[in-house]
Amino acid sequence: MHGLLMRSDPDNLVLAKSFGSVAAHYDRHATVQKKAADRLVEFLKPFTRFVDGPVLEFGCGTGFITDRTAAWWPDLPREVTDLAPEMVEHTRAKLSGKLPEHTVFRTLDIERFAPEHPYGLILSGLTVQWTDDLQATLKHLGTALKPGGLIAVSYFNSKSFPQWKSLCREAKVPYTANPLPKPDVATYLGMKYKTLVLNEIGKEEHESPMAFFQHLKAIGAGVRKGKGPRGTAETVHALQRTWESKRRKSFTITYGITYAIIQRLA
Ligand SMILES: C[S@@+](CC[C@H](N)C(=O)[O-])C[C@H]1O[C@@H](n2cnc3c(N)ncnc32)[C@H](O)[C@@H]1O
Repeated sequence: MHGLLMRSDPDNLVLAKSFGSVAAHYDRHATVQKKAADRLVEFLKPFTRFVDGPVLEFGCGTGFITDRTAAWWPDLPREVTDLAPEMVEHTRAKLSGKLPEHTVFRTLDIERFAPEHPYGLILSGLTVQWTDDLQATLKHLGTALKPGGLIAVSYFNSKSFPQWKSLCREAKVPYTANPLPKPDVATYLGMKYKTLVLNEIGKEEHESPMAFFQHLKAIGAGVRKGKGPRGTAETVHALQRTWESKRRKSFTITYGITYAIIQRLA
């Protein structure tokens, strides 16, 4: 895991810029993320009483999960963090009055996370799919837990965007989404962990493929990580034309989301 800690990651600078630039408008567009925050919080609720150490939230974005859990664990040390400083500042300005005074807000790249003390809970909504190796990231987070400590995460999985994929095949253009982890990545992390997983499929309607790509941009997620093919104005237009030829009323997009609660046993 040391490689993960030491690597400098220009992709994450681009990501931080992209998410940072939408901080002020994210809430208006992030409909799927809002629902997913409700689901993760619901899933975690029965386990809150087992949390008995510092709480770390990473990838807080504009604080959907921070807000929903603001009154939980009033006496535990708490860190609210994100890769993008603008997201941290936005959440701090919006929610600091709702959170215990001792809450620390700071930037953190979870792929360069070097824990200084063990945590009782590490919490994050729809962020870990942005990491290069989800299983390695989860195992690394696991080493930062106290025995009995929990990780609660959600992530977009590889069941997402089948309509985008098949439209690309039809239009004969490359599929340019970031590779997404399989739903079962969190299921078995080794003997040290016990995991509870919930997989769900959600749907959203967009006016057209073009509107869908604008939506991704509006929530800061229009960034391609790594070396894969990137979308261009031409590919978007080719997708739009192919879709228009079908005379459909809207462009349906399916999301696969995995929710996982992982407990470190020893
Ligand atoms: C889709 S948003 C989700 C935000 C929020 N948790 C929610 O549920 O709406 C993903 C967030 O993860 C952050 N992020 C992406 N890569 C990250 C990394 N390596 N470390 C920490 N945060 C990261 C982005 O800056 C962005 O705010």
